[in-house]
Amino acid sequence: MRIAIYPGSFDPITNGHIDVIERSLKLFDRIIVAVLKNPNKKPLFSVEERVEMIKEATKHINNVEVESFSGLLVDFAKIKNAKIIIKGLRAVSDFEYEFQMALMNKKLDKDIETVFIMTNTRYSFLSSSVVKEVASFGGCVKDLVPPHVEKKLKEKFLESIKR
Ligand code: PNS
Repeated sequence: MRIAIYPGSFDPITNGHIDVIERSLKLFDRIIVAVLKNPNKKPLFSVEERVEMIKEATKHINNVEVESFSGLLVDFAKIKNAKIIIKGLRAVSDFEYEFQMALMNKKLDKDIETVFIMTNTRYSFLSSSVVKEVASFGGCVKDLVPPHVEKKLKEKFLESIKR
């Protein structure tokens, strides 16, 4: 069984991420979506909310597991018996950072391989940060995130206006 880990912040999951998950399943038998618990970042959504949104967004896809992790990705991959890390690549601007991470992960664990999935051109401009920015000013993010994520974004930003 070929198990691959798809790590990220997923704050929140976008249709671009879902596209990467679906296409990765053509290459691997099982995808573990791993949400980073990062105390240094201030996410919009809690880890629990992010995991729930991903579960809902992938419930139509077989062989997807959603978990959170802290610490080193290679350590989590080992626990999960996964030797492949999946990353999505959009523009050249993603490359430098992703290249650095892939080489560092290789240094930390020589058995780990990083596989890059090129973005679908439909989503090449899409990121969680852009989605949050647009949603925070009341812009339309339909078609960029699943409907339940759009709803959660609206709720979040209404909450912050009330405060
Ligand atoms: O969606 P993101 O924020 O670009 O994802 C980054 C992520 C979670 C893949 C990366 O920060 C990560 O793997 N963090 C875990 C800590 C780690 O293993 N660091 C060493 C690799 S440089």
